[in-house]
Amino acid sequence: MSQTEIPSAADTAQLTNQIAFAPLCDRFGRVHSALRISVTDRCNIRCQYCMPDHDLQFLAQHRLLSFAAIERFVKAVAKAGVTKIRITGGEPLMRPNLAELIERLADIREVEDLALTTNGMLLASQVSELVAAGLKRINISLDTLNEVTFEKIARRSGLQRVLEGIEAARAFPQLKLRLNALVLKHVNEDDIVPLAHFARQVSIPIRFIEFMPLDAERKWNGTQMLSGQEIRSLIEKEFGPLIKQESKDPSQPASDYQFADGRGLVGFIDSVTTPFCSSCNRIRLTAEGKIQNCLFGREEWNAAPLLQDDKASDAAIVDLVRTAVLRKHAAHGIAQPGFEPPQRAMYQIGG
Ligand code: GTP
Ligand code: 5AD
Ligand code: SF4
Repeated sequence: MSQTEIPSAADTAQLTNQIAFAPLCDRFGRVHSALRISVTDRCNIRCQYCMPDHDLQFLAQHRLLSFAAIERFVKAVAKAGVTKIRITGGEPLMRPNLAELIERLADIREVEDLALTTNGMLLASQVSELVAAGLKRINISLDTLNEVTFEKIARRSGLQRVLEGIEAARAFPQLKLRLNALVLKHVNEDDIVPLAHFARQVSIPIRFIEFMPLDAERKWNGTQMLSGQEIRSLIEKEFGPLIKQESKDPSQPASDYQFADGRGLVGFIDSVTTPFCSSCNRIRLTAEGKIQNCLFGREEWNAAPLLQDDKASDAAIVDLVRTAVLRKHAAHGIAQPGFEPPQRAMYQIGG
């Protein structure tokens, strides 16, 4: 088409489509291609870094987005370049028939990566149906190998069930597994080295995570956090100098290392001391359908009415996501004076 020619109706429609579904780029040039979907705010344990112990107010069941609504959302944002999906919670395996949602999402052509973050308690009984439905990756939280410490952190028993879940998942060689260990000073510091040994033994990469101010009880003040640097030193004391790995994906939160003897991988998610906000590519959908542009976001955009309206277009859904993305801040600002944690705790956002 020359510059003077009037575009045909078909050309105009194509152009309108290209504009509506352009990549989700924010004011700082970050392109958003990863979506984290929370499917429930409920959980079967009560980790102190995430949930309150009592007085929990969970969402009423009827307020949870249906699988059809979630599928609709993913189909729309996939047109705008979202290719990575992670299912979170609360504990996502508490949502009945989760494998049905996995199957629906695995069928979406643009979805290249479909992953789940879980506490592992219900994994043993569900992993085979999740794999059959098309799940490719699972990150399992494991903060300790000691039942007493587990109960101290999770305020519930259950370590054996988590270990059984890990064992069951290992039976599927096509499934990529990772272990997540959040470290709290004076609580599970002594578990770092045993956890690293365990991860090597079961041949699963492990990542150690800094405690962020996302606990429901608002107790975070930095003093309970062990920095990634401190954790690294403890590991190097036991295993020798770690070998830095080149990052294949700059938006990945962990910096990965190989153990000195070449056996096994260990990563560090230093969200507080070394924020990775400048390469963040994530948007979030809460269990009740609110779009969030950051774990520490103070605004949210309600997608539920659009997802429940048969007449709403994919372009309208993407437009709402774009509004959220354009309002995203440069960084979480935890170290900034006057920082205030978000209204929602981790279990209400999606880990
Ligand atoms: P992959 O790297 O794709 O395996 O996933 P992931 O590491 O993003 O997922 P996972 O759910 O295992 O997250 C690990 C930890 O990273 C979480 O427990 C959080 O502590 C932290 N994290 C996840 N998403 C964000 C985020 O958007 N911002 C920050 N600051 N931390 C995050
Ligand atoms: N800071 C950092 N990570 C957290 N998680 C939960 N709460 C916090 C927090 N306050 C992580 C857990 C788990 C995932 C679901 O979220 O370690 O791996
Ligand atoms: Fe549940 Fe995960 Fe939160 Fe622990 S971190 S209370 S397992 S949602």
